[in-house]
Amino acid sequence: MARAGRRGAGWCWALALLGLAAALGASPTSGRRWPVPYKRFSFRPKPDPYCQAKYTFCPTGSPIPVMKDNDIIEVLRLQAPVWEFKYGDLLGHFKIMHDAIGFRNTLTGKNYTIEWYELFQLGNCTFPHLRPEMDAPFWCNQGAACFFEGIDDQHWKENGTLAVVATMSGNTFNKMAEWVKQDNETGIYYETWTVQASPGKGVETWFESYDCSKFVLRTYEKLAEFGAEFKKIETNYTRVFLYSGEPTYLGNETSIFGPKGNKTLASVIKKFYDPFKPRLSTKEFLWSLLKVFDSVIMHREFYLFYNFEYWFLPMKFPFVKITYEEIPLPTRRPPPDS
Ligand SMILES: *[C@@H]1O[C@H](CO)[C@@H](O)[C@H](O)[C@H]1NC(C)=O
Ligand SMILES: *[C@@H]1O[C@H](CO)[C@@H](O)[C@H](O)[C@H]1NC(C)=O
Ligand SMILES: *[C@@H]1O[C@H](CO)[C@@H](O)[C@H](O)[C@H]1NC(C)=O
Ligand SMILES: *[C@@H]1O[C@H](CO)[C@@H](O)[C@H](O)[C@H]1NC(C)=O
Ligand SMILES: *[C@@H]1O[C@H](CO)[C@@H](O)[C@H](O)[C@H]1NC(C)=O
Ligand SMILES: *[C@@H]1O[C@H](CO)[C@@H](O)[C@H](O)[C@H]1NC(C)=O
Ligand SMILES: *[C@@H]1O[C@H](CO)[C@@H](O)[C@H](O)[C@H]1NC(C)=O
Repeated sequence: MARAGRRGAGWCWALALLGLAAALGASPTSGRRWPVPYKRFSFRPKPDPYCQAKYTFCPTGSPIPVMKDNDIIEVLRLQAPVWEFKYGDLLGHFKIMHDAIGFRNTLTGKNYTIEWYELFQLGNCTFPHLRPEMDAPFWCNQGAACFFEGIDDQHWKENGTLAVVATMSGNTFNKMAEWVKQDNETGIYYETWTVQASPGKGVETWFESYDCSKFVLRTYEKLAEFGAEFKKIETNYTRVFLYSGEPTYLGNETSIFGPKGNKTLASVIKKFYDPFKPRLSTKEFLWSLLKVFDSVIMHREFYLFYNFEYWFLPMKFPFVKITYEEIPLPTRRPPPDS
């Protein structure tokens, strides 16, 4: 059950971990508002047939059931390590965690899992394909929510976390289900990196990631808004950071790679992505990442693709970092005025 899901998540983090990153720099005088908001779409397009999943996305997925208003539903925090990796002293030794949410209907005894992950695995979400017949780099970067019946206790418990974090009514669950459908239709692509000016709290964030843990955090917030009561326990999440000076906007696919585009810039971006071609084999892919890691750091440049647009990141020390830090559970609050 959820094999593919887990594998997907694993990929995602494996890469992230390695993930090296990038960039360029600028002075904070652009007047832009940061972080750049993640773009929502009016609907989810069918992926291009070029994008072929190695592992079927959400093979045991099912529609979200309707609960009775008075049912009592427990919300479970699900977290499990997907990858451990050591890369010299630079990255150290990391536990990369995948996050999901479990639900248990205490009246029916049925339980469910929801997780958000890549349709075509992490490599495809992080780096594009350079197709000879196409001018622009080609991305298979969709991510989506997968809901299925059951919770694989052993998977989450053994080296991870399976813990009740909140209790709510069936009515709240049903409201969440409506929200998830909409969130799933409008937030369609995966984003590996969080890009910040430097490590630490309270520093400028240029871009937010959009991954499995962000889905969990977003859903918790919604549940609190709908009336779920959360416990006060420490909840930590893995995040993959890139550090850079103020990013520079470069353009979108048409403006850069189209007939009126800047050919020099187009070829610089393609050259940047060339060593990162998504590979079929995980091992091969990780090795190719390792090989380019140093060169990315040396040149202090990264070309970030975000909202289907390209940005230059002037990379700064320590370039890339993986953290496992607390993000508190939400406290109950009334919905925003409508
Ligand atoms: C990444 O995308 C390519 C192109 O569609 C596909 O052949 C490959 O299977 C994908 N990788 C994985 C791990 O799904
Ligand atoms: C989210 O969208 C994907 C892709 O269309 C779909 O397979 C999945 O079932 C949807 N998830 C939910 C919870 O609706
Ligand atoms: C989920 O349900 C299955 C089947 O009844 C059970 O084996 C498992 O312990 C339950 N897990 C949780 C966390 O409720
Ligand atoms: C838990 O960790 C141990 C030691 O690293 C490993 O052998 C085992 O397969 C892990 N279990 C699961 C369910 O991932
Ligand atoms: C790409 O950028 C150009 C120039 O800024 C703009 O006119 C065009 O609408 C953009 N295309 C898309 C698909 O956003
Ligand atoms: C084209 O891109 C290159 C590389 O980013 C830049 O140096 C050059 O100024 C650009 N040319 C124009 C006309 O914008
Ligand atoms: C969780 O994060 C907090 C601060 O963000 C840190 O002090 C704590 O050590 C972390 N817990 C684990 C198990 O890493």
